[in-house]
Amino acid sequence: MDKMIEEDRMCERDYPVEPYKIKSVERIKRLSREQREKALKDAGYNMFSIPSEKVFIDLLTDSGTSAMSDNQWAGLMTGDESYAGSRNFFHFAETIQDITGFKHVIPTHQGRAAERILFTVTTREGNYVPNNIHFDTTRANLEIRGVECADLVQEKAYDPEADILFKGDMDIDKLENYIKDKKPENIPFVMITITNNSAGGQPVSLSNIRNVSKVCRKHNIPLYIDACRFAENAYFIKKHEPGYSGKSIPEIVKEIFSYADGATMSAKKDALVNMGGFIAVNDDGLAERLKNNLIISEGFATYGGLAGRDLEAVARGLREVLEEDYLEHRIGQVRYLWKLLSKEGIPLYAPPGGHAVYVLADRFLPHIPRHAYPAWALTVALYREAGIRTVGIGGVMFGKKDEKTGKETFPELELVRLAIPRRVYTLSHLNFIADAVIQTYKKRDQVKGVRIVHQAPHLRHFTACMEEI
Ligand code: F0G
Repeated sequence: MDKMIEEDRMCERDYPVEPYKIKSVERIKRLSREQREKALKDAGYNMFSIPSEKVFIDLLTDSGTSAMSDNQWAGLMTGDESYAGSRNFFHFAETIQDITGFKHVIPTHQGRAAERILFTVTTREGNYVPNNIHFDTTRANLEIRGVECADLVQEKAYDPEADILFKGDMDIDKLENYIKDKKPENIPFVMITITNNSAGGQPVSLSNIRNVSKVCRKHNIPLYIDACRFAENAYFIKKHEPGYSGKSIPEIVKEIFSYADGATMSAKKDALVNMGGFIAVNDDGLAERLKNNLIISEGFATYGGLAGRDLEAVARGLREVLEEDYLEHRIGQVRYLWKLLSKEGIPLYAPPGGHAVYVLADRFLPHIPRHAYPAWALTVALYREAGIRTVGIGGVMFGKKDEKTGKETFPELELVRLAIPRRVYTLSHLNFIADAVIQTYKKRDQVKGVRIVHQAPHLRHFTACMEEI
């Protein structure tokens, strides 16, 4: 039987077949063109301000948007809501210990809470923390403590056309030089984000994680993994890294974590739940300090801001995410959409990553200058065309204005992320998305740039009001 399945897999289908059937559905509605136009106007042309009921296909994020399995929903009914020592906490902790090999598990309500607690306990003003690329919340939680952040990903990660494997790898020479320059005693830890969400959702190779770990151990610096999409990363290792095709996903995952001293995780990604997170570490003293901090804001150490039933759903989701047919379909969906778009000449960040397709908005809309925010303009155009919600990762999110000169500097990449929620959309949804993007590309000359009418001082993309130019 296994042999048959293997043979079946070998005849590489070019479309991903859902390894599940649908037991419960949620209605989605397509608004008329006029209704979409009104929704855009009412929302100040900001995707975050559009009510989700006015969205037909929601690709804003893959975070907290997964469909849970019947097994996870059944787990909710076994929730033990005791304040201390809930049985679901023990299942949660044992599962994470088993999967990661870390000794202590501290639940949090989501990823950024895990970051805040870990950073509060381990960093002080004037410290330096390198990462391949810090995700925004990681960077924000460090910078607010006066820590300087460095993104030490290999240079090719910034070249959207470099079609290479493991583009999320950290540059080891850069890391060595950075440690030499800033001195090991000023670096409380090194972090590595798998997969690298901030540049194409690209995986990090095991050999790179091993080498980063070696450098860290040499200098006696702890290594933590930002583990949001650890299973997706492990799948790429199995598929593409020499020596790993015969290993199981759980074996690869164990090896990844074996090189680190701990991890933070947003369970809203690869634990297939709508809310949750955790910190896992080996050090006994550190675990104690983390729990002491946790109790101030997140709650007691056996629930950390989550209900008992939520802990159960995470424990079950973390097992399901390691199933290879799940991962094959998951990564297959992203690759499938990427290929449909690429075939039609849509400019994309290459190669396809783990959780999203990233469109190069400045090349898609070459007539819109950076200061009129092409990525933002494309999110408006895709909603207008088909009710599809995406997110612009470019000038509005990361642009910085010099207060004196008024001149704005822009990040290297101007992207629109089409994040695919896990187990939510079918093959025909993907076809629909591709058609909408291709239609928009054909009419790209009509897409207008935008200008900011109102913005908040920090994280302006969440609340900015825009108008079309
Ligand atoms: N680290 C990475 C790599 C992330 O992608 C995220 C969230 C976090 C940490 C923070 O986790 O949201 O649970 O607090 N990324 C989401 C996204 C928001 O859309 O990419 P959180």
